[in-house]
Amino acid sequence: MRICILGATGLVGRELLDLIPRAWPDAELQLFASRDQELALADGRRFPVRAASALDGADAPRGELALVALDDAHSARYVPRLLELGYRVIDKSNTYRLDPAVPLVVAGVNDGLVDGEVRLVANPNCTTIPLMLALAPLIRRFGIEAASVATYQAISGAGQATLDAFLAASGRAYADADRIGLGLDPAAYVGNTVPHSGGTDEGGFSKEERKLMVESAKILGIPDLALSAQCCRVAVAVGHYEQAWVTLGPGSEELSPAAIEALLAAEAPFVRVLPGSAGDGLSALACVHARDLALVGRIRRDPRPSERRTFCMTVAADNLRLGAATNAVRIASRWFPAADAELQGPGARSQDAAT
Ligand SMILES: NC(=O)c1ccc[n+]([C@@H]2O[C@H](COP(=O)([O-])OP(=O)(O)OC[C@H]3O[C@@H](n4cnc5c(N)ncnc54)[C@H](OP(=O)(O)O)[C@@H]3O)[C@@H](O)[C@H]2O)c1
Repeated sequence: MRICILGATGLVGRELLDLIPRAWPDAELQLFASRDQELALADGRRFPVRAASALDGADAPRGELALVALDDAHSARYVPRLLELGYRVIDKSNTYRLDPAVPLVVAGVNDGLVDGEVRLVANPNCTTIPLMLALAPLIRRFGIEAASVATYQAISGAGQATLDAFLAASGRAYADADRIGLGLDPAAYVGNTVPHSGGTDEGGFSKEERKLMVESAKILGIPDLALSAQCCRVAVAVGHYEQAWVTLGPGSEELSPAAIEALLAAEAPFVRVLPGSAGDGLSALACVHARDLALVGRIRRDPRPSERRTFCMTVAADNLRLGAATNAVRIASRWFPAADAELQGPGARSQDAAT
């Protein structure tokens, strides 16, 4: 099996280089990024990387699977070419997520959409994936009336250059004796919580907030899903943390938090339920120790009398792995069964898998 990774030198691309040998140990890899270079990983492995523009040539390598971890503009440029070259493609950018012809897939929620006919799949945003894993079993059972979600997102969600600048500046900042952060930039990430960048639309919502809202509606197949989101970035390297208030449909009035925990433990793939309302074991950093799972906890009833069917919960996940690379590999396992059971999507494997 021949696999190519576009954006192999980036944060998500590097995670794929850890997962692919586990999922498909015999895969032959072709790596692409902005220019010809050698990629040296922390574990000592070294890979030749070619400029993605090499894919334009008549002698471009062909293969079975392409995993694309580029920004929106470069995905738009290279995905059509990869399809032309015969690859099945999983794209991690925003470019194809709302295209009605392209399935938007969370492995463990709607990966049944990925059959042998499908050639291109979009990977959802890194906050959408864990939220869908936590909510889908509850929604299947009771329906949903509304949800509000507040996110606290890690800096690595903005890519390698932003993360490296943040880490370098954090080291300097905390070495200074400035307890309240007077010397820090109030508009920057270090020591800070800021609204998610990228501007707002006419409704006042940021792109990140809209992504969570519209992607969830598409994945759940509920076009008028009443979901509202507020997203911010916090001074954390990796691990997105989300607080959700979820109003379920009729029949959920008598549900106890323990019953929700039990339902999720039994029916939610790739979710680790942390029982109890205190949130023991639940943190952004806990996610980097359980990189391929969504952590779900702090499940409790909303105390407002008008909110009889509303539950509060916290969902957290590693944005580079469960929120990006791992979901992509699990989607691809529908076509190409994975050797590692943790990376195999849960749905029935496609009968007419890749040809
Ligand atoms: N980070 C996350 O948490 C996360 C989660 C879910 C989805 N995503 C999405 O995944 C994609 C990749 O994100 P990332 O965080 O891995 O980004 P990143 O760390 O900034 O990496 C970007 C990659 O794109 C390559 N690239 C830049 N310009 C290029 C060009 N002209 N031609 C070909 N390749 C080029 C870079 O190669 P060079 O090293 O050669 O510059 C690098 O490999 C984005 O669409 C992002 O929205 C990210």
